[in-house]
Amino acid sequence: MFLSRYGTRSLSGNLGRLGSRISNHTTGLQAANKLLLCRNFSMALEESYENIIVETPEEGGGRVAVIKLNRPKALNALNDALFADLIHATSVLDDSEDIRCMVLTGSTPKAFAAGADISEMKSKTFEEAYTTDMFAEWQEISKLGGTPIIAAVSGYCLGGGSELALMCDIVVCSKDAKFGQPEINLGVIPGAGGTQRLTRAIGKSKAMHLCLTGDMMTSDEAYASGLVAKVYENDELLPQSIAMASKIASKGRASLRAAKEAVNAADELSLAEGLRFERRLFQSLFATDDQKEGMAAFLEKRKPDFK
Ligand code: CAA
Repeated sequence: MFLSRYGTRSLSGNLGRLGSRISNHTTGLQAANKLLLCRNFSMALEESYENIIVETPEEGGGRVAVIKLNRPKALNALNDALFADLIHATSVLDDSEDIRCMVLTGSTPKAFAAGADISEMKSKTFEEAYTTDMFAEWQEISKLGGTPIIAAVSGYCLGGGSELALMCDIVVCSKDAKFGQPEINLGVIPGAGGTQRLTRAIGKSKAMHLCLTGDMMTSDEAYASGLVAKVYENDELLPQSIAMASKIASKGRASLRAAKEAVNAADELSLAEGLRFERRLFQSLFATDDQKEGMAAFLEKRKPDFK
């Protein structure tokens, strides 16, 4: 596996030197185009990122990548440069045949991310915000095709940080996690999914409460509302998230992709359309070796060996 040689060390090197550094203003589409030029993943992953850390922990068996948002002094506030790094890394990893699950977390227990970078936004004019379609490229994270992403949240998960977590496939958190959409306190509203994905995730009244008051939710409230799937002790967050990612990574590649696609379609389709889409995906999996292997393994009372 191309990643195994990196072990747990951060992927290092010089992206600029390799001539494929994604600039602060590079859009997600441009990042994807860069990837087409950079199909050699080992080369792509030797690049360094200024605002994130990418690791492949031993416990993940080479199939799990951990991405840490890394601007701890600014509580991992999400600026353009960080998002360009994040889109690049997640696109490379999503395209990799080896990586089956990603864990996205903060580099400091104090924050997953305290929102979009306010100092970067403060002086923008309406014209700039509108003509650059500010935050549109953030949605690239939610469009990644196959590889599930677990958001492992500790500390503050606010504004754009909460919206980023909601773009991931599963959200888990530590006991000290705090979720909120405090944009109203800045004279604006959520701009990357806080009024839409959050409402779908936790319902209108709770989402409206967060968006109108700017108050924060505790981890217990986040669990009770369905925003997070699991709450762990603070020091168990990363190990448990990697264990969950490893379990996911042991499943079949095609069935993982189909499950992610089908669940995500529930937000977009009517029930009748969604059920039809689910059935078609289910039926199509009978064309895969993993379906034959999974069902044979069950009947032979052994563990399946998925591709
Ligand atoms: N942008 C830029 N810098 C930020 C930031 C942000 N969103 N959040 C925190 N920081 C910076 C602070 O300015 C501070 O920097 P300095 O040390 O240089 O002063 C540093 O991080 C530490 O922050 P605090 O001193 O404020 O730490 P605290 O523990 O007292 O408070 C906090 C923590 C409650 C999270 C507070 O920092 C806070 O309220 N942050 C802003 C949260 C917010 O409003 N987020 C929404 C942003 S808008 C958005 O995200 C739009 C969208 O929909 C995409």
